[in-house]
Amino acid sequence: MLTTPSHPFHTLGIVGTGAMGRGIAQLAAQAGLEVSLHDARTGAVDEARDFIAGVWSRGVAKGRLSEDDLARYRARLHEATELADLAGCDIVVEAIVEKLEAKQELFTRLEGILDDQAVLATNTSSLSVTAIASACRLPQRVIGFHFFNPVPLMKIVEVIPGLRTTSEVVERVEALGQAMGHFTARATDTPGFLVNHAGRAFGTEALRLLGEGVADPTTIDRLLVDQGGFRMGPFSLLDLTGLDVSQAVMESIYHQYYEEARFRPSPLTRSRLAAGLLGRKSGEGFYRYVDGQAQVPD
Ligand code: NAI
Repeated sequence: MLTTPSHPFHTLGIVGTGAMGRGIAQLAAQAGLEVSLHDARTGAVDEARDFIAGVWSRGVAKGRLSEDDLARYRARLHEATELADLAGCDIVVEAIVEKLEAKQELFTRLEGILDDQAVLATNTSSLSVTAIASACRLPQRVIGFHFFNPVPLMKIVEVIPGLRTTSEVVERVEALGQAMGHFTARATDTPGFLVNHAGRAFGTEALRLLGEGVADPTTIDRLLVDQGGFRMGPFSLLDLTGLDVSQAVMESIYHQYYEEARFRPSPLTRSRLAAGLLGRKSGEGFYRYVDGQAQVPD
């Protein structure tokens, strides 16, 4: 159970149980919180719970977790069929679609459901936390809590106060991130925050190299992994993140920086998106995936 006095969160809600929401839910349950999961799509919560249970079962098979741990963790995952079922949560983390209006609308609805003390956290990659909070009655309880994909393995989380977030909320959320086993990096509420701003150059330049016919994705990825020391090349990362999510993030950062040329998104991702090539989640992006292994498309 949680013991640090500065993070008295016992119940955590997740809205959006896709790639990110399920990872956050997994860590929160492991940290001792009761976790309620909600998704707009029927069946999504069951898929997420099965996915997380699969991760834990593999942990048991490898001797990293006991059967008791598995049973305790599983019992902490609950389905919130309706958004209203999140009433009583101390904190809700949203990981829905990367659209400002959707996140604003969700937080406005949650304010009608939750106690005034509850914290509203957004896993947005690029949108302004202050802008999301501006739709809220109590913007001082809104904060950015930005994990990376895959959540359990990427052991860093950005904590981003909006302009009106209280220091108490910031400290509690930082303590929660640490209790979930992550290093917390406090970032200012600027487009892309810290990591997605710093990392932008590699993604956009790699797309330019491809667009100009300088090299193919495999060569560029290989170069950055072997020579640059990256764990993953930019095209593998785009496919992992999902081209739908990546495109929204690239567009968002570009527009928030007043169309600064160095942040301009590439038509290459947009055309793949139009063709339904979203990356790993659809089976093909810059690579084709067979049994989870990347192949170079014909
Ligand atoms: P995803 O597409 O895997 O999952 C999103 C889920 O939200 C889906 O299950 C969808 O049904 C649900 N959803 C959408 N609108 C909803 C609504 N209004 N109410 C309830 N459920 C709703 O997306 P992913 O990749 O998990 O991204 C989610 C958020 O996390 C986005 O804001 C994204 O920018 C951010 N993020 C994504 C990262 C990545 O690498 N994929 C990394 C860090 C942040």
